[in-house]
Amino acid sequence: MLIAIDGPAASGKGTLGKRLADHLGFAHLDTGLLYRAVAAVLLNEGIPLSDREAAAQAAENLDVAHLDGPDLRGAAMGEAASVISAYQPVRDALLAFQRQFGSELPGAVLDGRDIGTVVCPNADVKLFITATPEERARRRHLELLRRGEDVAYTSILADIRRRDERDMTRATAPLKAAPDAITLDTTALDADGAFLAALAIVEKKR
Ligand code: C5P
Repeated sequence: MLIAIDGPAASGKGTLGKRLADHLGFAHLDTGLLYRAVAAVLLNEGIPLSDREAAAQAAENLDVAHLDGPDLRGAAMGEAASVISAYQPVRDALLAFQRQFGSELPGAVLDGRDIGTVVCPNADVKLFITATPEERARRRHLELLRRGEDVAYTSILADIRRRDERDMTRATAPLKAAPDAITLDTTALDADGAFLAALAIVEKKR
């Protein structure tokens, strides 16, 4: 079984994806980490994010076995990832790995921006997770504080709006709900509420 979860920055799709996968005994891939890791290669080597060829190279050579580290999940890397993820060759280079991951048994959960539309258009369940920009900024603010990054709420909100705009209006694989996706607005839900609502949708398809 393959579950595709898409949604804007800080919508809670990563947390939800992990919880669903743990509950169902499925593999989980946070595909944002792939784009963040590509951005990290450029930033660490002092290469400008505008260098499309270097970004494509970094995506082709990406070591997918080592996708973690606190820096990757920080605000600066999210912003940088949003820039290089608009380059088609970067997306192409990361596609095969994501599709292969989607065929893991007994099932897989992938979350990102284009899972239901491009990466796994045949997914058994497609969820589109949303929440207002203000609520997402509030959650991201708390999350960053917990990790010791004290970024102002207003600056996080501005970052989220900028990232939404960039992710939704780019020419390649823009963020949008697949026609057969079920939209789940989590503005008024906590993590448990979002998980239970999503699980009910998944169980109906099992
Ligand atoms: O989900 P996360 O915030 O970690 O993603 C970082 C950036 O990577 C997003 O703003 C988006 O531009 C890009 N991304 C993407 N396609 C995905 C996952 C992430 O373009 N499937």
